[in-house]
Amino acid sequence: MDTNAYAADQATRGLLRFLTCGSVDDGKSTLIGRLLYDSQLIMEDQLSSLEKDSRKHGTTGEEIDLALLVDGLEAERQQGITIDVAYRFFNTPRRSFIVADTPGHEQYTRNMATGASNSDLAIILIDARKGVLTQTKRHSFICSLLGIRNIVVAVNKIDLVGFSQDVFDRIVGDYLTFATSLGFHSIVPVPISARYGDNVTTRSGNMPWYRGTTLVNYLETVDAEAEAVDRPFRFSVQWVNRPNLDFRGFSGTIGSGRIAVGDQVVVAASGKTSRVARIVTADGDLPGAGAGDAVTLTLADEIDIARGDLLCPPSQRPAVADQFAAHILWMDEEAMLPGRQYLMRIGNLWTPCSVTSIKHRIDVNTLEHQAARSIELNGIAFCNLSTAKPVPFDPYEENRSTGAFILVDRFTNRTAAAGMIAFPLRRATNIHHESNLVDKQARAALTGQKPAVLWFTGLSGSGKSTIAKLVELELNRAGRLTYILDGDNVRHGLNNDLGFTDTDRVENIRRIGEVAKLFVDAGVIVLCSFISPFRAERQMVRELVEQGEFLEIFIDTPIEECIRRDPKGLYAKAKSGAIPNFTGIDSPYEPPTAPEITLTTVGTSPEALAQDLLRQLRERGHSA
Ligand code: ADX
Repeated sequence: MDTNAYAADQATRGLLRFLTCGSVDDGKSTLIGRLLYDSQLIMEDQLSSLEKDSRKHGTTGEEIDLALLVDGLEAERQQGITIDVAYRFFNTPRRSFIVADTPGHEQYTRNMATGASNSDLAIILIDARKGVLTQTKRHSFICSLLGIRNIVVAVNKIDLVGFSQDVFDRIVGDYLTFATSLGFHSIVPVPISARYGDNVTTRSGNMPWYRGTTLVNYLETVDAEAEAVDRPFRFSVQWVNRPNLDFRGFSGTIGSGRIAVGDQVVVAASGKTSRVARIVTADGDLPGAGAGDAVTLTLADEIDIARGDLLCPPSQRPAVADQFAAHILWMDEEAMLPGRQYLMRIGNLWTPCSVTSIKHRIDVNTLEHQAARSIELNGIAFCNLSTAKPVPFDPYEENRSTGAFILVDRFTNRTAAAGMIAFPLRRATNIHHESNLVDKQARAALTGQKPAVLWFTGLSGSGKSTIAKLVELELNRAGRLTYILDGDNVRHGLNNDLGFTDTDRVENIRRIGEVAKLFVDAGVIVLCSFISPFRAERQMVRELVEQGEFLEIFIDTPIEECIRRDPKGLYAKAKSGAIPNFTGIDSPYEPPTAPEITLTTVGTSPEALAQDLLRQLRERGHSA
């Protein structure tokens, strides 16, 4: 059964979703095994196979190794690690539980975040012999970031420190000192022995000094966060269902809140309102529905609604913005670079998005804020983001269903990050596009030319600028209005604050792209000569202008030839280590995969290459 089905099934009894955080040795698996075992979930036949396994792999001698109940696959057991989020289900007479079991290794921050984003409470396991560790802090911070407000500090293996109250008190004191800044609503410490069951389901006779509740009793009675159904109604349209002219419905899953037939709804981004006419499901119409229900809504009025639109009550509207601040948990091997474009998915809305600035990176071990120019795998940062379209959302703190997003790499389609929105940035909301009376066509008509971006890319010394200059000369002689933007020149002015790190190169091309776009709008043929080593940024510039206006011209010269030519003596310096991050030496170049034009330079003179290029431009209908 999947998590949602189970959740729906158990909804009437009351459900608590929690996760356990701890490292391999803290006894996390043993605790989960103990919970499952004590709650009688284990059938007799599973028990007998468990006894067999315990003899083979277990670490507890003749006793049943409870950890083996949960430690998944044979291979993983033998390596002693578990690597994914596993959900476990169990019931007590008073409540149903879903436990997210996530591995404790540092490199699996991503799994832990996944588990935490679905949980109402976290059990932070601490080994009584070791006390509060760096990773205890890391886990707690990630829990707080992902909106968990209730924490149980389970001081485990208390039997191994002689059931000592002093040890327990010291650990609890250490934890509270550290955790005060994390915004938890409740922190409940419990001394336990997961292995022997002390204070797990039954009160331990070994710790008369402890007057608190047992772990399970607490889990059964804790007043977890307000349920998603108690929050404002939020419905992200997954698709517009229009089987025939008589029916137009909006399908999706209710993210939070409730809706009933007759309720007023507003489309967050457009502000258009209507009233719910029907709530349609596979099993017929409903009078009302709530968070987690998959439904199709029909409305009383014909209003514009598209996939990704967010429907909500007119009295409780979300924020709508194209600039906001958010925490980002970076999950991709390739580092996040500000200025680079990613695809954001928020609800069912997809939009191009980039990080405009990293306010700070957070060292998850010390919680220290650090300056950063990029975010590496597993890094967490607080950033400003900018999206191509206005996005409706609630701060993640207020609503996890509308405050969370992912970023997807545009080339690999990998999920590169998880994000939690903190607040909208209002700076740009009052800036609108001003449309002029004279447009691009009118300007181009004056010169009788087709404005274009001729984008020369290739290694340093490949011949980009030499060819571009010759081409410009010919275009100028033919009466064309042109301009050259060149790496060396632009870096003396507009971009004199930028160097050659990956981050700076992204920003270099982003700015050039915007300038090139302005030139095209001015009716000019702009020749841009930049190494522009990354596909992602060349693609970004392509998308800034209209189809057919961007021509990627790959100046294809092998690195050996560039080194041989070395017109500025830079390769010699780079090889001696005097210039770090030199393209082709210790910084990458990603050749174009489908350039409009490729010029192979070896064995042909620049003049001949320029003529060849002009001919190809004419063939493509560009004035030359
Ligand atoms: S880009 O990578 O950001 O597109 P750009 O084309 O603006 O680079 O600038 C490249 C020019 O800067 C080179 O032709 C070379 O003259 C000079 N340069 C100085 N340092 C470097 C470096 N580390 N890597 C590449 N080019 C460099």
